[in-house]
Amino acid sequence: MKKSHRVVFQPEGRTVFVMDGTLVLEAATEAGLTVDAPCGGRGVCGKCRVQIVQGDLPESAEQKERIGAELYEQGYRLACQTRITSDMTIVVPRESRLFEQKILTEGADRATAVQPNVRKVHIEEAPPTLEDQACDADRLLRAIPNGENLEAPIDLLRQVSDVLRESSFSVTAVINRDEIIAVEPGDTTSDLLGAAFDIGTTTVVGMLVDLRTGERLAVASRTNPQVQTGDDVISRIEHTRVNASGLRELQSAIVGCVNDILEELVKERGISVERIYEVTTAGNTTMTHLLLGVPPRYLAEAPYVGVFRKGCLVRARDIGVRIHPQGKLYALPNIAGFVGGDTVAVVLATGMMQKDEVCLAIDVGTNGEMVLGSREWMVSCSTAAGPAFEGARIRFGMRASQGAIEKILINDDVSYNVIGNVAPIGICGTALIDLLAELRRVGVVDETGRILTGSDLPGGLPPRLAERVQEDDDGPIFVLAEKEEAANGRRIYITQRDVRELQLAKGAILAGVMTLLKEANMELDDIHEILLAGAFGNFIRRKMAKRIGFLPQIPSERIRFVGNAAGAGARLALVSRACRDEAERISRHVKYIELAGRPDFQIFFGEAMMFPEVVE
Ligand code: FES
Repeated sequence: MKKSHRVVFQPEGRTVFVMDGTLVLEAATEAGLTVDAPCGGRGVCGKCRVQIVQGDLPESAEQKERIGAELYEQGYRLACQTRITSDMTIVVPRESRLFEQKILTEGADRATAVQPNVRKVHIEEAPPTLEDQACDADRLLRAIPNGENLEAPIDLLRQVSDVLRESSFSVTAVINRDEIIAVEPGDTTSDLLGAAFDIGTTTVVGMLVDLRTGERLAVASRTNPQVQTGDDVISRIEHTRVNASGLRELQSAIVGCVNDILEELVKERGISVERIYEVTTAGNTTMTHLLLGVPPRYLAEAPYVGVFRKGCLVRARDIGVRIHPQGKLYALPNIAGFVGGDTVAVVLATGMMQKDEVCLAIDVGTNGEMVLGSREWMVSCSTAAGPAFEGARIRFGMRASQGAIEKILINDDVSYNVIGNVAPIGICGTALIDLLAELRRVGVVDETGRILTGSDLPGGLPPRLAERVQEDDDGPIFVLAEKEEAANGRRIYITQRDVRELQLAKGAILAGVMTLLKEANMELDDIHEILLAGAFGNFIRRKMAKRIGFLPQIPSERIRFVGNAAGAGARLALVSRACRDEAERISRHVKYIELAGRPDFQIFFGEAMMFPEVVE
């Protein structure tokens, strides 16, 4: 194993172990942080500045010029140009973070941008007298600017008199759009919280957000408990179809997961979930149907239509989500049966619909959804890429968690990096891409995906690599870690069947891209930028992904990682009413292309299954 270093990113305190020579930008993405890299890591935009506060501080005259002498002396360096050669502590400032910046920028540029649905108004009113016998509700409403237009629901009327008197008529009204949802004693205006969720087929990520600033205060995630009924959306839909209580089970599983995450988010602040006033969710169409308890069954039958497309605003308590009793939940709108609110959120967060240039966004998750276009037009599709790159259906596949091999290099022998710097137990998606790419480069895998053995192996292959090509019951394998190296005493390897599974997944994604381009009558060169979204997309090494044809052959600097853009979009829809309206427009603007049964997709798919020539 190559030498590795411990890198701590502040202020979160996230720690990763990376191989010697890893770029700070790569290490940051491994830590789940999305550093903005507008020039694609070429070192010319100067936007990816981070501050190295401990560890080797490399000298570079170009960086000094790009960053400015003052910041340079304070330890600032470009994340895309600086390699890690020792243990380090690195601060990633807010202005270098992709979506923090977007929210801040919008806040500065558009006065209405950080403008959530929920607001608070502190009121100090005089108690009633014989001369002023206005009722308590009117007393409240008249103290709020434009309060006469607000609704006061029955639950509020039941409490308002006591709250007013117990707090000497000094209260805070909590207003959601045109309704007063609560009256709190005293001045609580400094505390206005919401939560945004990315509800993935495999992983659910929630974040606690300060609705006054848009700032992300805490993040927590869980595996979607619905995975017990299958790893893709079709098996979940099937579960609701064949079991009378299937829909109820899956709905309560996801709601339970959301509630657990909410509890975790507020725990550190020592407050109750009832202090959260609104939640937004971005999920694929099936996930949103299940969350709301709406039967998804016709999504799985041609012509694959859902029950609803528009965003849904419901009282959170009505579907079992525990926040403030009058708090609302807004599920982002869908585009079609297999392109949902998570894709809308990606388009929203990346600002694609505001651009003149044509961009391609690919959200690499359990499915591969993609959108191509600009402010003029947009087309989308979903490829049944399957969860292979999330580790499913791969012999030693696993998610990117402790013990997963996450990076592989091959020279005379194999070097790899393991998350958590522990003995390996499996291989995650990024390492699977690395492995295929490296095996292609050294000639162990041919262009059809066959693992070569014996005399078919290229002459001059280093002996240590040749020894790693072995057989198991199903055919040839390539061994990554012998049992002595592995955590559970079982050798770790990739099988011929694994390679086929990965070929299917990467072929589906590339074929989807080619079909969208054809639909738009465009060539690869017409794409200004590819935006790779999704937690997994964030960690992919572009060179490796292009080598196996997972990504199209365009210059690496035109491929940009945008991290968990679905979560970022859900947060934008939470903190900005303008963004929520934009999400609804995106859902109408993006045209959906159904790939099933399209002969051109099938042809592209057949071609994309093959590995391209290695020309580096
Ligand atoms: S300088 Fe542009 S991404 Fe680093």
